[in-house]
Amino acid sequence: MSRILYLTDGPAAPAFSFPLFTELRKAKHIIRAVPTDSACLLLNIFGWAAIAGSPAKPFAQLADEDWDWPELILLAPASANFLGSLAASPWRERLEQAKLPVLVLPALLANDDQQAAAAQIRANLPANCQLLLPQKDTLGLGALGTVALASTRRCLLACRRALTKQDLNGQRLLLTAGPTIEDIDPVRFVSNRSTGRMGLALAEAAFCRGAKVTVVHGPLPALDFPAFPDRLRLVPVRSAKEMYEAVIAAIPQCDIAVLCAAVADYAPSSCAAQKIKKQPDEALHLCLERTPDILAALGNLPEPRPFLVGFAAESNDLEENAALKLKTKHCDLICANNISEPGCGFAVSTNRVTMFFQDGTPALELPLLSKDETASRILDQVVKRLPTR
Ligand code: CTP
Repeated sequence: MSRILYLTDGPAAPAFSFPLFTELRKAKHIIRAVPTDSACLLLNIFGWAAIAGSPAKPFAQLADEDWDWPELILLAPASANFLGSLAASPWRERLEQAKLPVLVLPALLANDDQQAAAAQIRANLPANCQLLLPQKDTLGLGALGTVALASTRRCLLACRRALTKQDLNGQRLLLTAGPTIEDIDPVRFVSNRSTGRMGLALAEAAFCRGAKVTVVHGPLPALDFPAFPDRLRLVPVRSAKEMYEAVIAAIPQCDIAVLCAAVADYAPSSCAAQKIKKQPDEALHLCLERTPDILAALGNLPEPRPFLVGFAAESNDLEENAALKLKTKHCDLICANNISEPGCGFAVSTNRVTMFFQDGTPALELPLLSKDETASRILDQVVKRLPTR
């Protein structure tokens, strides 16, 4: 729960802010909205207070003490004109001296030269302001024209990062997530029920704690996960073999590897170039071959190798199976869950994980928690065991 001073500008402001405030309020943040006149064109100051859930204040009445109140300053959306006049106003000094994170989401005109506009904005603003530029996300505003603006999701993730203790700062973390797909022919494939939620929760948590994260993930149709250039990189792959190759290519630049993907253990020995037609026989025999075991390959790397975390999805004998995987795959930590238990496993938002450690620490059983909370608890254990630098 944090206090957010929200300076907002332009007629697009309400459309952007409403979904953002809904999410910020769910996370129990307190928002003080400070709209400019143009942000009040479609929503007056009482409307701003209503959507923020706290008293709002017109920008013209912003006072010195308002800058002492927040834990995060968010300027969103912020037109180039507004940012220019703010940078030239007496408030520039307060922005500059802020000992807290300042996030700026410039609203760029969709058909402008966005790189040039962004460079201009960056040059005008104090160095401590962090710019969140639009990637592929534009906010369509119908009659008002189209504005290119970072998405709500990107903004929320950046806020969470700005408000989180950076105990993974400087660490480079590689994650695998989601299922792999092994093609049989151009129409059919072998795969599994993984939705990638646990892996993405870990990616988000690690990113927010300051790690530089690379996520090698199998096909995730509902993927809504913003990439942050230089900080959070998504590497989409399809098959176990492609995942193996992407991981092996990335691992030399990693300090921690968390292998959460549900990798197919077997793949068709070849993929038919054309659709396999029905034959008169009653049965069709597929020949499946073992895929590379990515976790075991990393466990066999010579020292110094990354801190290695594996997962164990079990339906029975959890402790024995997890202990065996810990030993045979040479991991530092195995997170085991019983996929047949209600609330655990695939396509649910919760998990109940037991952690088994290589260093002899007794197993740590977590209660049934959201996957986000489970991810934080796993990373707590990783942080504790990282070599001190
Ligand atoms: N794993 C992997 N590459 C594979 C298979 C599994 O990297 N080809 C990783 C998973 O990402 C997970 C761990 O190994 O971190 C255990 O995966 P799991 O499916 O539980 O077990 P398997 O090793 O595949 O063994 P089994 O299916 O026999 O339980």
